[in-house]
Amino acid sequence: MNTLTLARPAARTALITGANNGIGLELTRRLLTEGWHVAALIRSSFAADDEVTACAIRDGRVRIYAAELTDFSQLAAALQKIQTNETAIDVLFNNAGGSLPELRFSPQGREMHYELQTVVPYIIYRELKDLLLRGSLKTVIGTSSNAFNYTKIFDADNLAQPQRFKQLTGAYADTKLAMSLWTQALAPREAKDGIFLRSADPGPNNTIRKGKKSGLPFPVNYLMRFFFAPPTQGAGRLHDAAFGSHKSDVGALIDKKGIVTLKFADQAERILENVDRIYQEEFRVLM
Ligand SMILES: NC(=O)c1ccc[n+]([C@@H]2O[C@H](COP(=O)([O-])OP(=O)(O)OC[C@H]3O[C@@H](n4cnc5c(N)ncnc54)[C@H](OP(=O)(O)O)[C@@H]3O)[C@@H](O)[C@H]2O)c1
Repeated sequence: MNTLTLARPAARTALITGANNGIGLELTRRLLTEGWHVAALIRSSFAADDEVTACAIRDGRVRIYAAELTDFSQLAAALQKIQTNETAIDVLFNNAGGSLPELRFSPQGREMHYELQTVVPYIIYRELKDLLLRGSLKTVIGTSSNAFNYTKIFDADNLAQPQRFKQLTGAYADTKLAMSLWTQALAPREAKDGIFLRSADPGPNNTIRKGKKSGLPFPVNYLMRFFFAPPTQGAGRLHDAAFGSHKSDVGALIDKKGIVTLKFADQAERILENVDRIYQEEFRVLM
């Protein structure tokens, strides 16, 4: 008698930047419980005493690629490893980010929030597009914010070298808006290849870490410590933006109420041109 062997469907893979802490870690844990594999693009380790991720690392369901994302040589090396080792990516979560306490510049000489939160997500998408095309869901979610709700002045050409610095509502907010804007501009073109790009606001989450200098103004730091939700909330919102009722939307910023109308949309193309120029002129040569 012939034995019928039923092939198990291959697990889906999510690539998550900043997968080892806060919202990214909760998203990683959730996807693992749902049977996913996670390619974690991270600069520091997962906590050794986190049994869920430690077990998944041991049996290959979490695969780690290390890089300080704002350093293009490290980013290029990590992306090359991902291109070699992964066979497909179903969903890309460009999640790494955060508010810094002072004005800093990347090794390439651009303001740090701009490099990490606007330029790098674009580079990662461009370099992993072929793997996304081999995946089943072909979805990209950038982690945005509502910190730009009160932004009154915005100049796409000033983001790399801002003259002044303000915690949270300055470069942090501007560069989240810039990422959501290039996503909106690029998405209709990429949808022709079957790829869905969106951004998502994870809402307020308490991701305060002992020993980490906060880039949050005192009142926000206080609110976060005592009143913000745990990061499972933000992970849930990123999960919804990828797989929920907006899963066929193209280019939108999604928050808990639905689609957000982006301000300064007239500058979306300009931001896209700027990040693409950096990608073509500075990054491609490293790959
Ligand atoms: N928490 C909120 O209320 C809130 C609200 C709106 C949006 N967000 C956004 O949500 C995302 C996740 O933030 P979170 O609150 O979960 O903060 P978090 O706990 O500090 O996690 C941030 C993650 O990004 C990584 N990261 C930061 N800079 C990096 C760099 N230069 N290179 C590589 N990795 C880097 C961190 O790595 P390390 O572990 O090495 O530090 C960490 O894994 C961020 O984009 C943030 O702006 C958060």
